[in-house]
Amino acid sequence: MTDSLTVRDNRTGQEYDVPIADGAIKAADLGKIRTDDDSPGLSIYDPGFVNTASCRSSVTYIDGEKGILEYRGYPIEQLAEKSSFLEVSYLLVHGELPTADQHQQWVHDITFHTFVHENVKTFMQGFRYDAHPMGMLMAGTGALSTFYPDARNISDPDVRYLQIIRMIAKMPTLGAWAFRHAQGKPYVYPDNDLSYTENFLAMLFKMSEQKYNADERLVKALDVLFILHADHEQNCSTNAVRSVGSSQVDPYSAVAAGIGALYGPLHGGANESVLRMLRRIGTKENIPDFITGVKNGDERLMGFGHRVYKNYDPRARIIKKAAEDVFEVTGTNPLLDIALELEKIALEDEYFVSRKLYPNVDFYSGLIYEAFQFPPEMFTVLFAIGRTPGWLAQWLELVQDKEQKIARPKQLYMGDRELTFTPASERWA
Ligand code: CMC
Repeated sequence: MTDSLTVRDNRTGQEYDVPIADGAIKAADLGKIRTDDDSPGLSIYDPGFVNTASCRSSVTYIDGEKGILEYRGYPIEQLAEKSSFLEVSYLLVHGELPTADQHQQWVHDITFHTFVHENVKTFMQGFRYDAHPMGMLMAGTGALSTFYPDARNISDPDVRYLQIIRMIAKMPTLGAWAFRHAQGKPYVYPDNDLSYTENFLAMLFKMSEQKYNADERLVKALDVLFILHADHEQNCSTNAVRSVGSSQVDPYSAVAAGIGALYGPLHGGANESVLRMLRRIGTKENIPDFITGVKNGDERLMGFGHRVYKNYDPRARIIKKAAEDVFEVTGTNPLLDIALELEKIALEDEYFVSRKLYPNVDFYSGLIYEAFQFPPEMFTVLFAIGRTPGWLAQWLELVQDKEQKIARPKQLYMGDRELTFTPASERWA
């Protein structure tokens, strides 16, 4: 067996041997296929990059058919059960688990960078009372680049490390302040005696008490949610971070682009639609009619199906368990019963079985967020905080990858050519 692909160009009758490496051919090799010296080489038309690998990566592995998700080779189930968000962040960024000393240093460094420059507060206060927190987070992250101009020196490993620490540390501060802003409540400064996730909850919910003590089970559940969202290989926002980062801009600007991508309803917003759907269904008795409507093509069962997973999304199984833990503290949400029944019916129904439609990460996450009393606009902010180490791990991989170039896709030009311009004075005469 030879690791190559033989391509016969029927326009010219010529054959080409294209090497295959790691299950892929290089698009540039196809560029050598041309009808004559002056014609453009063959290119690949792939809107949405559905079958184009943009990089080699060692961060996250997904097998959608089998429902497998691993960070740096470790199964997500084990990380969610036995690790913490900061340890997982270390793993993603550094590629291996920390020793005790490395972990201590990492947690210390992140904890002591949670504060933002006081001018950031003024800047955040300038937003309108009803500003969407994702818009605020995106702008806040982009603005950080102006506070740390050294960040543009991306070839210096120490500078890179400092920005990674800063961004993981400050993202909860910006997210919590965006939340408080919408409520007209004073911004709460970080409490560095608390753990990462405890501190985030304190900045969100603390009022006049001396110390905000969150229930341990809620802290654990939110930490697990952050772990589950920490990376998902080359999704839309990660691709945005890499694409913008490929221009060698500072990492704050690259991550701000990722936040912009995540903001879109096709990426970070599906859990909100699940909640709206469950509310509309209202009672278990209405489920059969709803399912009939879905099967007739009237609407989709939100929180089901995935481009990559053709099996149970491994994150959905963990979130379902986390939901039970959260409801133990907050009291159950009647929508959970509808969700459970909906899942049971769908998983036995030929329509969903034959199309391999299973619950995805968003099916239960909105219910948990609601139990925390987050308004729907905050759901994507939580996603962004969790995804930050993943974006940064991917950015770090990008800037150290000698094969990478500035992102610059080709196009298939379909417009006019070589028209003759007539000045406005003549055209309008
Ligand atoms: N409800 C009913 N039917 C569905 C659904 C659904 N949720 N998802 C897919 N289908 C059907 C679809 O109608 C099509 O049927 P047919 O072959 O008869 O035309 C078939 O399944 C394949 O669907 P597709 O649209 O070609 O699949 P896709 O890979 O392009 O779409 C998806 C993936 C996630 C956009 C889609 O499953 C969907 O719209 N799901 C609901 C929204 C949702 O939950 N999104 C969150 C995704 S997870 C977030 C993340 O990881 O970032």
